[in-house]
Amino acid sequence: EMDFLRSLFSRTLGLSPGEKVLDELTLDGVARYILSGKNIICMVGAGISTSAGIPDFRSPGTGLYANLQKYNLPYPEAIFQIDYFKKHPEPFFALARELYPGQFKPTVCHYFMRMLKDKGLLTRCYSQNIDTLERVAGLEGEDLIEAHGTFHTSHCVSFLCRKEYSMDWMQTKIFSEDIPKCDSCGSLVKPVINDKIFILGWSIPLRLKFLSSQSTFSDFPRCDLLIIMGTSLQVQPFASLVSRVSNSCPRLLINMEKTGQSEFGMGLFSFGGAMDFDSDKAYRDVAHLSTCDDGCMALAELLGWKEELEQMVKREHALIDSKDAKKKDKEAMTRQNNQSEHEEGLHGSPNRSTEFNSTSQSQVCPS
Ligand code: OAD
Ligand code: ZN
Repeated sequence: EMDFLRSLFSRTLGLSPGEKVLDELTLDGVARYILSGKNIICMVGAGISTSAGIPDFRSPGTGLYANLQKYNLPYPEAIFQIDYFKKHPEPFFALARELYPGQFKPTVCHYFMRMLKDKGLLTRCYSQNIDTLERVAGLEGEDLIEAHGTFHTSHCVSFLCRKEYSMDWMQTKIFSEDIPKCDSCGSLVKPVINDKIFILGWSIPLRLKFLSSQSTFSDFPRCDLLIIMGTSLQVQPFASLVSRVSNSCPRLLINMEKTGQSEFGMGLFSFGGAMDFDSDKAYRDVAHLSTCDDGCMALAELLGWKEELEQMVKREHALIDSKDAKKKDKEAMTRQNNQSEHEEGLHGSPNRSTEFNSTSQSQVCPS
C-alpha cells in the first residue's frame, strides 16, 4: 500500500514523469516495441465477444442493459447481483437461456491472446467476461483472471453447502426451464458471477486483488505493455487497474471508442491514471479505434504473425465444429433411443429393445 501511495503521489505531483518508450504512439510503434520481447497484460471486456454473437452491456441499442425491460428489474445491474438473485432467481435464468451461445467459438481477438501466450509474452489476461471464451481459446488456470466470475463453474448459494456443479449440468438446467436447485440441500444453484465464492482455494476478488496489487510479486509493476480491449472501463475496481502499471508502461486500447479518459467520477483515474491519447502531454497511450478482431489482426500483421493467427483461428474453429457435430449426433442418437424405448414400452417387445440399445450404445460412445 505504501508503494502504491508513493507512486500515486509522485505521479500526481509530477515528481517522476514517465519515460516515453514507444518511438511512435501508433499501432506500428507498439508492434516494434513488442518485438523486443515483453511482459504483456491484457485487460478485456464484453466488446471482445460481440463478434461471437454475445451482446455487450452498454452499447446503445444493442447492449444488454438497454434490453432488460421485460424483466422488471429495479436497475439493470441487479440481474447479476447475488442478493437480488436469492429473492428473484427467474430473471437471471431467463436471460441466461436467451443469451446462451449456440456455439462457443472464440474470436480472432481471443486467439490473438492465445498467440501471445504461446510466444511467452502474456503475463496474464484480466477478463470481465463470464462467457468462458478465453478458456475455449486455450487460456487456462494461471493465464486468466475472470474478475467478474464465469459460467464455467456453478455453486450452491447456501453458505454451509457450496456444492459445485459443472457447466454441462447448468446448461441442462437452464434449458429445462427449471430453476436450478442443489441436490444436497435444495438451495439455489448459480454460476459464479459477482459473488465471493472460492475457486481452487482462491476467492476471485482476493486473487484479483493480490495479482493486481502494487506488490513486487504481482503482475502490474513488472508489466511492459498493457493491452486493453473491448471495454468501456466503467466498472470499478476493474477499470482502475489501468493505473496500476508503472508510469512508463505503454497502454494500447483496441476498441470501437476511446475509453478510460475520464478524470471525473472514476475514483483512481482522478489521481493521474486516466488514459491520455490526445493531449500535448500524451506520451504512452495509443488508441486504435476498430473492432477488436480487426485491431488484433492488424497488430498481428505488423508483427509478422498474420498467417499464423489466421491458421490458428481456422484450425481451432474447425475443431470446435467437429466436436459440436459429434455432440449433436450423440444427442440425436440418445433422443432416438429414448423414443424407441418409449415405443417399445408401449408395444411391448423387451428383447428387441435391449438389442437396439446395445448396438446403438457402441455408436454413441466411440472411444
Ligand atoms: P461494456 O458494454 O460496458 O463496454 C463494451 C465496450 O466495447 C464499449 O466501449 C463498446 O464500444 C466496445 N465494443 C463493442 N463491440 C466491440 C467490438 N466488436 N470491437 C471493439 N470494441 C467493441 O462492457 P464491459 O466494459 O465489459 O459485469 O462491462 C463491464 C462490466 O459491466 C461487465 O463485466 C458486467 C457489466 O456490469 C458483470 O458483473 C457481469
Ligand atoms: Zn447445497
